[in-house]
Amino acid sequence: MQYSIPRGTYDILPEESPKWHKVIAEFRKLVEAYGYAEILTPIFEQADLFERSSGKSSDVVKKEMYRFTDRKGREFALRPEGTAPVARSYIENRMDIGSLNKKLYYLGPMFRYDRPQAGRYRQFYQYGVEFIGSNHPYYDAEVIAILWNYLTGLGLKKLRLELNSVGCPNCSKDYDKALQSYFQPYLNQLCPDCQERFERKPRRILDCKVKECQEIAKNVPVQLDYLDTSCIEHFAEVQQYLDLMKIPFTINPRIVRGLDYYTNTAFEVIYEGIGAQNALAGGGRYNGLIEQIGGKNIPAVGFAGGFERLLLALEEEAIALPGHPVPEVFIITIGSEAQKIIIPYLNIIRGKGIYAEYEPDRASLKAQLKAANNSKAFYALIMGEEEVKQKSAILKNLESGEQKLYSLEPISHLIKAIQNKEI
Ligand code: HAM
Repeated sequence: MQYSIPRGTYDILPEESPKWHKVIAEFRKLVEAYGYAEILTPIFEQADLFERSSGKSSDVVKKEMYRFTDRKGREFALRPEGTAPVARSYIENRMDIGSLNKKLYYLGPMFRYDRPQAGRYRQFYQYGVEFIGSNHPYYDAEVIAILWNYLTGLGLKKLRLELNSVGCPNCSKDYDKALQSYFQPYLNQLCPDCQERFERKPRRILDCKVKECQEIAKNVPVQLDYLDTSCIEHFAEVQQYLDLMKIPFTINPRIVRGLDYYTNTAFEVIYEGIGAQNALAGGGRYNGLIEQIGGKNIPAVGFAGGFERLLLALEEEAIALPGHPVPEVFIITIGSEAQKIIIPYLNIIRGKGIYAEYEPDRASLKAQLKAANNSKAFYALIMGEEEVKQKSAILKNLESGEQKLYSLEPISHLIKAIQNKEI
């Protein structure tokens, strides 16, 4: 019986993992400069947490959630996203005590049962931040700045930041009514999903991928025309802060977002050239969410992006990422006596954090030298019969061919030579 990996998932193979390390390390470095601290939450949560926050009618909950019942009949779900779990943890751990503002970031796998395609997986890896505690429009812009600086800092150029305001629940109601009046005459022509959306959440129709629905939705009224005064002001201020931060954006009044919890600012970073799944990241403000899941009325804003699409974009722009590390030194021994002598030193060298390779199953000097060259090691450290007698070894620069004899005692001299690339 041969097993295969579940559809929509992937292995990160050793050749790939340095790239992942790099993008993750850059993300940590940047968000920590903004004062964000990491939060890790479980991979599964009560299913109801997502139903309440993302919305029962959202595709994420309705069609894509990995739900399961545990042995005691409790309903859980593999997390489809990170915002609701972070909000749950914020409430449960009383993070509102003391300073109200909390800056949190997270990294980890999310799960959505969707049709896999380029840039869309059933298990995917998100990076994200959540700023909880203030409705100040500066923070909307700050969160966007983090995302923008992260992506441009990695070298990406073909990015487009799209911005919208979906208003507060009050203006949303008016907008939903306007959408219903617009779609009413076409109700029978909409797909079955959109007919349901018409009742519960008409703006979801704008996100429908069915051609006929898209055609009908071409001339819908836009949300921005239905914002109340305070939502208009908030939106204008976010834009002013973005201008101050010199972050270019375009207004796209058709951004809906797939999750229900958004209020006011909604944004996406789009990257053309990686296929249909072109949203590198997305987010926005979610002022009602914390109260909705049992906390106080505390405003918040954040974003998340998927590393898979990010890596596709980096590849598209041919931005070099690190490959598998090469050894600093490759140990070569001739005869069993040399092996016995060198092994304790090999351990000491590695203990100093020097990447040293040794392949004792290759016997001849020629085979070992070939392996050293193939590994692209900087040095070979060779111990033959002559060196055994002197308790020393030859350090050879594999590029220049230059070599020098080092005594193994004290080993610190050889270690220094390797670390400082003395030859
Ligand atoms: P989202 O737009 O559903 O938002 O997902 C954010 C990002 O995750 C997407 O832009 C995409 O890069 C990646 N992503 C989503 N689904 C998949 C998939 N099936 N395969 C690969 N990548 C995927 C959220 O998740 C919100 N929690 C963002 C947020 C944080 N809003 C406020 N705070």
